[in-house]
Amino acid sequence: MPVAVDGAPRAPEAAVLARIAALTDELNRHSHAYHVLDAPTIPDDEYDRLFAELQALEAAWPQAVSNDSPTHRVGGAPIPEFKQVTHTVPMLSLNNGFSPEDVDHFDRRVREGLGADAVPVTYTAELKYDGLAISLRYEHGVFVQAATRGDGATGEDVTTNIRTVRNIPLRLHGASPPAVLEVRGEVLMVKAEFAALNARQRQAGLREFVNPRNAAAGSLRQLDSRITASRKLRFYSYGIGALEGATMPESHAGLLDWFASLGLPVSNERALVQGAAGLLAYFERVAQRRAQLPYDIDGVVYKVDRLQDQRQLGFVARAPRFAMAHKFPAEEALTEVRDIGVQVGRTGAITPVARLAPVFVGGVTVENATLHNEGEVRRKDIRIGDTVIVRRAGDVIPEVVAYVAERRPDDAREFVMPTSCPVCGSAIVRLEDEAVARCSGGWTHCSAQKKGGLMHFVSRRAIDVEGLGDQLIEQLVDRGLVDTAADLYALDAARLQVLERMAAKSAQNVIAALDKSKDTTLARFIYALGIRNVGESTAKALARHFGNLDALLHAAAFEGGLQLLEVDDVGPIVARSISEFLTDAVNLDLVARLRAVLRWTEGEHVMTRPAGVFAGKTLVITGTLPTMSREAAAALIEAAGGKVSGSVSKKTAIVVAGADAGSKLAKAQELNLTIVDEAGLLALLAPAPL
Ligand code: IVH
Repeated sequence: MPVAVDGAPRAPEAAVLARIAALTDELNRHSHAYHVLDAPTIPDDEYDRLFAELQALEAAWPQAVSNDSPTHRVGGAPIPEFKQVTHTVPMLSLNNGFSPEDVDHFDRRVREGLGADAVPVTYTAELKYDGLAISLRYEHGVFVQAATRGDGATGEDVTTNIRTVRNIPLRLHGASPPAVLEVRGEVLMVKAEFAALNARQRQAGLREFVNPRNAAAGSLRQLDSRITASRKLRFYSYGIGALEGATMPESHAGLLDWFASLGLPVSNERALVQGAAGLLAYFERVAQRRAQLPYDIDGVVYKVDRLQDQRQLGFVARAPRFAMAHKFPAEEALTEVRDIGVQVGRTGAITPVARLAPVFVGGVTVENATLHNEGEVRRKDIRIGDTVIVRRAGDVIPEVVAYVAERRPDDAREFVMPTSCPVCGSAIVRLEDEAVARCSGGWTHCSAQKKGGLMHFVSRRAIDVEGLGDQLIEQLVDRGLVDTAADLYALDAARLQVLERMAAKSAQNVIAALDKSKDTTLARFIYALGIRNVGESTAKALARHFGNLDALLHAAAFEGGLQLLEVDDVGPIVARSISEFLTDAVNLDLVARLRAVLRWTEGEHVMTRPAGVFAGKTLVITGTLPTMSREAAAALIEAAGGKVSGSVSKKTAIVVAGADAGSKLAKAQELNLTIVDEAGLLALLAPAPL
C-alpha cells in the first residue's frame, strides 16, 4: 500500500476512486450479460484486461475496494468457521403433494380460504429447484450478506462463498434500489458442471459426489472460497424476505419480474395459470421437459399469485397455505445390497447387478440395479451388505450410486467376478483394452446371449415385431422352439398357443406381426443383426453407403474390412467388429436364411469417393519397402481402386520396387514399365493439388 512520508496510509485521489468505481461497474455489467443473460457484451480477453487493471488498483488502494467488486468472486483466504445469521423473516418450507388429488385438495382449500369458491384462482407455477435455499441481503443495492436456510430461524453466513456465484449481482441494477432487500432462492450446480467436477475428482483419485445437490452443498460449505469459486454454482430467485424502502409488488409474478429488472436471475420456465387444471397442465409440461433442463428439479411449486391473497391465506405451522410443492416421485432411495450377481448381455458382456431389498424409487419398485462393470464396482467400492443409494431417473435403468459409509456392516463382502458364465458355463474373458468382461460362449452356446440377441432383433428400432416380448422369447428359447432369428419366421399359431399366457388370439397376433415385419429396410436389418459396436446410426450409414447387402458383405470379407473405413462413423474398431461378424460361417448362414424371408429395397452401391487413382490398373510390388509391409502397400493400392498382382507382364501398369528386388524388377526394366519406390507410390496416392 502506498505510504505517506509520516507513515500513515495515503488517501486515494479522486481520479483513482473514479476509475475503480467505473471499472467495478463496467465489469459487473459485462458479467451480468454473460452469466445471467447468456449474451456476452465484450470479448473474454478484454474482460480479463479490465479485470487485471482493477485488481492492480485495488492492491494499491485497499481502502477503495467496493463491496460489489468483481475481484471478490474468485474467492479469498480460508475462514476458520461460518458465523451464525438470524433471519429477520424466517425461511419456511412448503407442503408437499404427489398426486392430482393433492393438487385438487390444495386448490379447494385456497378457494375456501379466499371465500372465492366459484372463481378459478390465478397461480404462478415455477420449478422446484433441487439445490439449497439461500437468502441474499442487499442494502442500498449492494450485496452485503448471504445465509443458508439452517433451521429456518438461524442459518450460516456464507457471504464470501456466495460472492463467487457468477450470476448473482453484487450490485442491483436501477437508479433507486430499496434500502433493504432480502432475496430468497436456490443455489444449484448444473448437470454439465456436475459431470465435469466428478470427472476431475475421479482423475485426482478423490471421492465423487453423489448428485448435483450434494455437490452444490459441498461446494457452498467450503471454508476456502477459492474452492467454491472453482465449482461454478448458479442461483435462481423465487421469493422475498425483508424489504425496506420500496413498495412490494402486487403479485408474485410481478415480484419475479421486478427481480429480473434488478438484474437477479429468475427462471424463464415460470408461468401464470388458472385453477387446478392449469396447475396440472403445467406439471405435465415440466415433467416432459425435465430431462432437457440444464439442472435437476424435484418437482414444481404453485403459489397463489396475488400477494394480498397470500397474506389472507397465511400459514399453518411452518408452511404457507398459499403455496404447494408438487413433487416428482423421489429418484433416489436407500436400500440394502443383498447380493451382487451378474447378467449376461446379448454381446456376452457380463454386467454386475446389485440384488436389492425391494425399494420404491422413481415411481416403481426396484429389486435390481446395474453396477455397469467390474471397474465401477471397485471404484464405487460397493459391497454385499452395504446400504446404498439407488437412483432411477426417468426411464433409465436403475443404478447404484454410492454406499453409505456409516452403515457398512463389519461383514460386508466384496464382489468376485465369476470365471465362468453363470448361464452357459463358458469361460469369462476380459480383453486387455476393454473395461467389460465377456462370456466367450457366443450366441450359439450361451442362451443368455441368444435371448438377448433375439430380443434385440425384434425390438422396435430393429425388425420391430409387435407383441413379441421378452418373456415370450425366454419361453421360445427355453423350450427349444427357436434357436435363431430365422426360426421365428417358421413359427405358427398352433405352436405358440402351447406357451404360458398365450391365448389363441394373441398367438395369431404375434404371427401377424412377424409377417408384417418381413417388409423392412436394409438399415433395420443390419442393426437387427446385433453386430457389436454397430448401433442404429452406424447401421444407417452402412446401408446408405453400400446400398445393398452384397456390397456390404463383399466389403466386410475383403482386405480385412478395409473398405468399411470409407463409411462415415466407421473407424478401425467398428470395421473389425463388422468384418469379424460378417465373415463368420454361422452368422453368414443366419444372414442367408433371413434374407430369404425378409424384404427390403436394394440400391446401387454408390461410391462416396471418386474412383481411385489406380482404378482399372494392375500393380506389382517387389522387394522390401523401407517403411511399409507389402500387405500395407497392397491395401493402399486396392483402396485406390487398383489391383495387385504377383507377376509382371505387359499389362502391369506400375511396379513398386523396394530393396533387394530381383527378377521382377529386371523384367519390368526389360518391358520398359513405370517403376517407382515407396516414396513414389505415396506421391501418386497423395491427392492432387487443387
Ligand atoms: S418457495 C415459503 N419456490 O423447496 C415458501 N421454494 O420444500 C418458501 N425450493 O426450502 C419456498 N424451488 O429450498 C420455493 N420455486 C421454489 C423453490 C423452492 C426450490 C426449495 C426451497 C425450500 C424447499 C421447500
